[in-house]
Amino acid sequence: MFFNGLLACLPVVGGLLSAHLLSKKAGIEVEVGWPCSGPLLRMAEEAARKLLPAFQTPTGMPYGTVNLLHGVNPGETPVTCTAGIGTFIVEFATLSHLTGDPVFEDVARKALKALWKNRSDIGLVGNHIDVVTAKWVAQDAGIGAGVDSYFEYLVKGAILLQDKELMSMFLEYNKAIKNYTKFDDWYLWVQMYKGTVSMPVFQSLEAYWPGLQSLIGDVDNAMRTFLNYYTVWKQFGGLPEFYNIPQGYTVDKREGYPLRPELIESAMYLYRATRDPTLLELGRDAVESIEKISKVDCGFATIKDLRDHRLDNRMESFFLAETVKYLYLLFDPDNFIHNDGSDFDVVITPYGECVLNAGGYIFNTEAHPIDPAALHCCRKRKEEQWEVEDLMREFYSLKKNKKFTLKQASERDEGESTKDATDASSGGEKRNSKKSSHSLLSCPSQSFNSKLAVLGQVFLDNT
Ligand SMILES: *[C@@H]1O[C@H](CO)[C@@H](O)[C@H](O)[C@H]1NC(C)=O
Ligand SMILES: *[C@@H]1O[C@H](CO)[C@@H](O)[C@H](O)[C@H]1NC(C)=O
Repeated sequence: MFFNGLLACLPVVGGLLSAHLLSKKAGIEVEVGWPCSGPLLRMAEEAARKLLPAFQTPTGMPYGTVNLLHGVNPGETPVTCTAGIGTFIVEFATLSHLTGDPVFEDVARKALKALWKNRSDIGLVGNHIDVVTAKWVAQDAGIGAGVDSYFEYLVKGAILLQDKELMSMFLEYNKAIKNYTKFDDWYLWVQMYKGTVSMPVFQSLEAYWPGLQSLIGDVDNAMRTFLNYYTVWKQFGGLPEFYNIPQGYTVDKREGYPLRPELIESAMYLYRATRDPTLLELGRDAVESIEKISKVDCGFATIKDLRDHRLDNRMESFFLAETVKYLYLLFDPDNFIHNDGSDFDVVITPYGECVLNAGGYIFNTEAHPIDPAALHCCRKRKEEQWEVEDLMREFYSLKKNKKFTLKQASERDEGESTKDATDASSGGEKRNSKKSSHSLLSCPSQSFNSKLAVLGQVFLDNT
């Protein structure tokens, strides 16, 4: 498989944060101070702290692997894929907002800025970079494997944090991607400095892109690209890992379909935006394929080869975590995840009231939803404390002799939920590949250097 070493750690942090935020809704008794404190939040914080040593590099871009006991191993390769550097902001900013410790958000932002600074003159990023020297080791620019969740997290981070800087970075990339990699609503791979096409392939991992485009409001483009991808689905009853666009066929050794979520995830977002029944048709086709082709006694098997529908003796974790979840959400318009802000919960904490579950959920790259209102609520608590302190200072210094009433700062209208929930994902496998180290994110096991002419050779394993 071309995704190895998918990490244990970041999904652990994201999963814990999501479970922490959903725990009250799930009927679990929460401690005083929740959602700004709680046992799962403390576990998430502890797990995230163990990742921090990876960020101690001259560039601020993290190593791809870190030893959970001892930090970065001496002799660890400094070459990390772009996604492995740029996929922290959703979890780390959530953690910082909930706990009040800015370190997590700071390191994630620094890594994002370093990638941004190191984009090429024509505005593209490559696939692998040396985090010590900031030299691009694999110079293929595209939207799929090795890069995907970086773009995903710029958009989701921008929405989660209402952050204009992150969004403007994405919009600049989007311009360059459209200009250099897009042909007839397909996206190809190009050389990051010259913009020349290096691989005319569509990877099934890239199918998150229409969903991401719909999140920035570019629904027409998103729909056209989605329909291209859907024709590939119809041709094979699934999405092959690689599809050679000019030849209109699968790529040697990349004919499998491990029941990845990305196209279904895009269908879910686009359906929220358009209610176009074609999107439900894709959902129906997916359910049928999964039932007819991949169902076995103990689960749902990876399709090893879409040409003859042979199966592999494995079921990937993203099948349940993401594929099934997005299918469910596609067909369940009343799900609380789709809340448009008309419903919400008010929670009383020792610090005041707090609005939660008003919608606008941001899915992390493993499809764990994060409630953006919770971030706001914990931060607001701190801002209010400062506000009160300021008022008190003013009161004592200036208004000593006058009667003074503190105004109740009661305009507390959280729950801004402008967007539908969010996500798109690389959804690689979540496995550890090394004994004592854990790689942080999905990177292709072999960087694709310049043997690009030979299609299908590029992503081959050594094994
Ligand atoms: C790459 O990023 C690093 C860290 O931000 C920066 O020091 C360096 O100047 C950048 N390189 C280029 C060519 O911009
Ligand atoms: C688009 O590409 C052309 C070269 O093909 C270049 O001259 C132009 O500046 C590019 N525009 C953007 C927005 O990247």
